[in-house]
Amino acid sequence: MLDYDPFSDEAMRDPRAIYEQLRLRDGPYFVEKYNAWALVHFEDIWQVSTKHEQDITFTAGQPLTNVLLGEPVPHCFVSMDLSEHRKWRNVIHADYKKSTVEQDRERITTLAREILAPLQERGSFDFYREYVNPVLAINAGHNLGLSRENSIEWRRLIDETMHREPGQIGTSSQRNQAAGMELFGQLHGYVQSLRADTEKAGGHVAKYMAAEVDGKRMEDQDLVNLMVVFLTVGSGTTPNTCAAAVYHLAKHPEQKAQVLADLSLVPKLFFEAARVDQPTNILCRRAINDFDLRGTPIKAGQNLMMVYASANRDEAEFEHAAEFDIHRSYKRDLTFGVGGHMCLGMHLATMTGTILLEEFFKISGDYQVDFANCTRAYGEFLSGFDHLPLTIAK
Ligand code: HEM
Repeated sequence: MLDYDPFSDEAMRDPRAIYEQLRLRDGPYFVEKYNAWALVHFEDIWQVSTKHEQDITFTAGQPLTNVLLGEPVPHCFVSMDLSEHRKWRNVIHADYKKSTVEQDRERITTLAREILAPLQERGSFDFYREYVNPVLAINAGHNLGLSRENSIEWRRLIDETMHREPGQIGTSSQRNQAAGMELFGQLHGYVQSLRADTEKAGGHVAKYMAAEVDGKRMEDQDLVNLMVVFLTVGSGTTPNTCAAAVYHLAKHPEQKAQVLADLSLVPKLFFEAARVDQPTNILCRRAINDFDLRGTPIKAGQNLMMVYASANRDEAEFEHAAEFDIHRSYKRDLTFGVGGHMCLGMHLATMTGTILLEEFFKISGDYQVDFANCTRAYGEFLSGFDHLPLTIAK
């Protein structure tokens, strides 16, 4: 008998084996303690996102700590329902169109080379900690109009708020709370400095400070929330995917040789890494109407855990789903979600991830991963590597 709890030590360490067990059952799994259905099959998540958007609310938040534990929900478009959501998302929607993102290719390539150069000199380094993570943190900050120093420091504090001790449920630890206080203090100070001199604001922050939607303007707390959300999503997932790409490739020498010989395979590699090692482990919603989900009656008020990391390994959707195969083709894609809340940053993530991997492979030769010292992030929210030591060949 499976007793699945997303906050259990086993699930927070690495939930993939548990998901495999859960997928053997038909339909979703009910976690009584949290009044929550775990949607572990591709089709269930697809149907909720495409057919039942009117039956669910995002206002309870998306992270498990909000929806399942009732922790305060930051007021931001990611936790709004569709009509209001669309208007606030639209303030920066154009910045994330494929053609707009492409304009940043050169800047991001230059940044990647700059961070990589001293690492190349050393020969051995942590691919996640020292390369991809800092590049994405700096880039997420750049898009908000932040300095490098602030981007890196605030990203570090966000990581501290997301740190989980074994068995910890929610963001209640002293370490989380202290980091949260420090982060919010600094961000409020920053917003006040911008209010005093609006010329200093840049990127998304400047756009949101100037925006008026339905006669409403953003308050200081809204701007602080926006920065936390964008520093988190903008830098918390793409590096994991790049790390997964390099790791899985090292485990598959034939595919590794193909990629090193032909860098046009890198986008396929990036997508396969995101499929097999989906970084957005679980995002939640809450039902507001009763509805039928492929024979399972969902009741208004029940929580829905969209277990993307499981859906992407569902055998009913992907042949030999657990196998890593960069040449795989498939019809439907859930890596970036689907529906009105589909990932805003998907083109940015794809382009940046591809650049970071290409630049690495240009200098890596037949690199060797120190498998014994790779670690995965511990927690209920994001999933993937957070340490990936390796040695390049030249
Ligand atoms: C490999 C990297 C990434 C993956 C796998 C990923 C995946 C996802 C997923 C699954 C969702 C939820 C979609 C849904 O609810 O249907 C999401 C939402 C979102 N993502 Fe990403 N993401 C990635 C990178 C990024 C980046 C670089 C940004 C940069 C800004 C970003 C910004 C967002 C935002 C703002 C949302 C919320 C959208 C909304 O609620 O309207 N993501 N992402």
